[in-house]
Amino acid sequence: MIAVHFDKPGGPENLYLKEVAKPSPGEGEVLLKVAASALNRADLLQRQGQYAPPPGASNILGLEASGHVAELGAGYQGPWKVGDPAMVLLSGGGQAQYVTVPAELLMPIPAGLTMCQAAAIPEAWLTAFQLLHLVGNVQAGDSVLIHAGASGVGTAAIQLARMVGATPLVTAGSQQKLQIAEKLGAAAGFNYKEEDFSEATLKFTKGAGVNLILDCIGGSYWEKNVNCLALDGRWVLYGLLGGADVNGPLFSKLLFKRGSLITSLLRSRDKKYKQMLVKAFTEQILPHFSTEGPQRLLPVLDRVYPVAEIQEAHEYMETNKNVGKIVLELPQ
Ligand SMILES: NC(=O)c1ccc[n+]([C@@H]2O[C@H](COP(=O)([O-])OP(=O)(O)OC[C@H]3O[C@@H](n4cnc5c(N)ncnc54)[C@H](OP(=O)(O)O)[C@@H]3O)[C@@H](O)[C@H]2O)c1
Repeated sequence: MIAVHFDKPGGPENLYLKEVAKPSPGEGEVLLKVAASALNRADLLQRQGQYAPPPGASNILGLEASGHVAELGAGYQGPWKVGDPAMVLLSGGGQAQYVTVPAELLMPIPAGLTMCQAAAIPEAWLTAFQLLHLVGNVQAGDSVLIHAGASGVGTAAIQLARMVGATPLVTAGSQQKLQIAEKLGAAAGFNYKEEDFSEATLKFTKGAGVNLILDCIGGSYWEKNVNCLALDGRWVLYGLLGGADVNGPLFSKLLFKRGSLITSLLRSRDKKYKQMLVKAFTEQILPHFSTEGPQRLLPVLDRVYPVAEIQEAHEYMETNKNVGKIVLELPQ
């Protein structure tokens, strides 16, 4: 089979398609024939040599995939059959023609969605669901500040926050991104390049601040985050796009807000946790992607690239232009 490969860490020019051995499903696993995968920031970091896959995970890039079940591991007795369409959260290996997965991590593809739309769901939506509900304990009536509001995770978090009855506010780097975030349900959006999002958030919340912040920026935003956090607010850090260093009185500012700073990484979580997350998401959220539901959730796709254009796809993500997900199609 062909798979995305690089021989040494570095820029997108190091990426190429390589003929590699097709994996075989072990006990409790199934083999998925991949129709589409999607790009994640983690792929850029892994390509640069800054984010090794967790122990036991495939070295091949790709944290999610959609496709069809092609083979069942020995002794598998579960509900999945050869030929079933499915989508899956992975620790790696999705950007290849085949990938093996623990059967419990497969999810059905909601009716009416294409393979490319399905490939845009697992990583962004499971992350957003986990951050809001399991980590951030979001409640109806909460105000939630979502940074990088037009990102893959951001576009999912806006819709999930709305669904639970919270008020999503976003930051983004352009008016076009803010408009799309507002169409998805954001109550307000702030262009962090043109205004102080912290002051704008305090103004919008009439001085109260937000109950929850979903923060993939980190270092460059810490002081503004703590300034606009409500008393007893939760600040969930899940990425470091704005750096890892903090210079200043973070602890005293956070303490006077009685704030909680919580961190979260999904990829390194164990199989049991991911099974629980996938089950909860499948039961509680997936039905809302249906075309017939009253409150339809939408996976937001920016561009679809044939996997042969993997270098271009990485270069595009690095420009920060995408709204929602960048999807890769695998040859069938
Ligand atoms: N912890 C976890 O479990 C987990 C899981 C999935 C993803 N993540 C993290 O979540 C983040 C979003 O992932 P994604 O795939 O959804 O991203 P994405 O779609 O590629 O969007 C990221 C956006 O962040 C904004 N941005 C980049 N650098 C910035 C900076 N220095 N300051 C402010 N904004 C910046 C850019 O939009 P603007 O135009 O608005 O600046 C960029 O388009 C990444 O950091 C990723 O690593 C974490």
